[in-house]
Amino acid sequence: MSNDKSGTAKRALITGASAGIGEGFARQMARQGYDLVLVARRKDRLDALASELSSEHGISADALEADLAGEHGLSLVEERLRSGEIDVLVNNAGFGTVGEFAELPVDREVEELNVNVRALLRLTHAALAAMVPRKRGAIINVASMAAFQPIPYNATYAASKAFVLHFSEAIHEEVRRHGVTVTCLCPGPVRTEFQQVAGLDASSMPAIAWMSVDAVVRSALSAMRGGRAITVPGAVNVTMMAGTRMAPRFLVRRIVASMFRNRGTATKAE
Ligand SMILES: NC(=O)c1ccc[n+]([C@@H]2O[C@H](COP(=O)([O-])OP(=O)(O)OC[C@H]3O[C@@H](n4cnc5c(N)ncnc54)[C@H](OP(=O)(O)O)[C@@H]3O)[C@@H](O)[C@H]2O)c1
Repeated sequence: MSNDKSGTAKRALITGASAGIGEGFARQMARQGYDLVLVARRKDRLDALASELSSEHGISADALEADLAGEHGLSLVEERLRSGEIDVLVNNAGFGTVGEFAELPVDREVEELNVNVRALLRLTHAALAAMVPRKRGAIINVASMAAFQPIPYNATYAASKAFVLHFSEAIHEEVRRHGVTVTCLCPGPVRTEFQQVAGLDASSMPAIAWMSVDAVVRSALSAMRGGRAITVPGAVNVTMMAGTRMAPRFLVRRIVASMFRNRGTATKAE
């Protein structure tokens, strides 16, 4: 069991735990003895993961089915966070869309903002309502390398992750004097269901750019333990981030546009 100073087990709530990076968080945190609340829409997957992790590691794991794009699901998770039983919130659920913004269905773009931004903001607020008075707790917000520059043909996604980065850094600074930390994780490409859900053709991305779920999650948990505001996992990503910051903005925009112009699988099929 992962125990705090009072000797009680710690509990983490992880959104988007039915796949990819969120499932990776669940596996590593279970190994570290955290009790878990696993959130996503695909309840069958959450149930299977919860029973596997609880029998393997002797932790308690609950599956909480919630669609974070909608009011009902969001309220259910907020309620759980306000109850004060959660020591660590991992705001990981999210997805991307690829293509020319003017041609993408606007409802899906709004849904993307609702999950990546609105839900993350609301759940951070609900978690802090319990963590700040207790003067302890940690939040990990999953952004992306996409947060560091605008990305034509992936515009809503990159803008949503820029929000996550700026928001997380600001809130980290506000709450650290209360003993609470907010850590923003900015991964580069990781092979998960993300690429398929986004309709992203990632075949031309260089092998060196990819990281494993395990390595990305390890970096996030270590940054959280260190009370750090941001973590960019991997030397390649750190170098890219520095390059992006130094290069003129117009140039970055154009280079990124040329990289993403033909990456939409829907666009390619036409
Ligand atoms: N993979 C990458 O290359 C990469 C890079 C940088 C950042 N990220 C970020 O990492 C996070 C996790 O992505 P991933 O790579 O693990 O993708 P993934 O394999 O597609 O997993 C996404 C998770 O989010 C959940 N989710 C999506 N929409 C939801 C909704 N409306 N309500 C509740 N849960 C929802 C999914 O669960 P259900 O479908 O069961 O609801 C799933 O568990 C995202 O925020 C993503 O932007 C990914």
